[in-house]
Amino acid sequence: MEIIFATGNPNKIKEVNQILGDTKITIKGLKDIGCTEDIPETQPTIQGNAIQKANYVTQKYQVNCFSEDTGLEVDALHGEPGVNTARYAGKGKDPEANMAKILQNLGTSTNRTARFRTVIALNINGHQHIFEGICEGAIALQKTGTGGFGYDPIFLPKGYHGKSFAELTKEEKNQISHRGIAVRKLLNFLENLSKS
Ligand code: IMP
Repeated sequence: MEIIFATGNPNKIKEVNQILGDTKITIKGLKDIGCTEDIPETQPTIQGNAIQKANYVTQKYQVNCFSEDTGLEVDALHGEPGVNTARYAGKGKDPEANMAKILQNLGTSTNRTARFRTVIALNINGHQHIFEGICEGAIALQKTGTGGFGYDPIFLPKGYHGKSFAELTKEEKNQISHRGIAVRKLLNFLENLSKS
C-alpha cells in the first residue's frame, strides 16, 4: 500500500520510514504529487492543525494521505509552547532559539514535567481517522546529546535515567516517542484495513 505523508519535514519522513521498517506500507512525500507549497497550519490546536494539513492535501490533490502535528507541552509554562512549538521563539522555526527560550522561561524551576504530543490525521477512502501518541518526560537544565532534531537535546523521556532524546539511539527513541506510538497505531489500522 502506498500513502502520502503530508509533511515537508525530512526528519519526520526519515523517522516514520524507520518505524514502518519492512512493512508493506510505502510512504510517498508531497513532492511525489507535485505539492511544493507551504500547507496552512493556522488552527488553535495540534489536532486541528493535523486535520487542516491532511484535508488540504486530500481536497487539492484528491489523494489518500496522512499528516501529523507535534507539540511540546511544559506544565510550568501552562502547556506552552503547545500548538506554537515550531515557532516558539519566532517565525524562523530555529531549534536553538526555541530551546533557549524554554530553558530561560523555566530558569531553575524544579517543576520541569513536560510531554510531547503527536496527532496523526488520516484521510482514507472518504473517511477520517485520528491517532495520538504521548511521551511523558521533563525538561533538562541544559542541552545534552547530538542526535535527533528539534527539542531533542532538552527533553528527558521518563524512565531513561536523565538521558535526553538526543542521547538515545534512533531505535530507542522510536520505541517510546510520541511519533513512534502514533505511527504504530496508524500502521495497525492500515494493516487491518488491507486485510479486510
Ligand atoms: P511540527 O509538527 O512540524 O509543527 O513541529 C513542531 C515542533 O516540534 C518543531 O519545532 C519540531 O522541531 C518539534 N518536534 C517535533 N517532533 C519532535 C521530536 O520528536 N523531537 C524534538 N522536537 C520535535
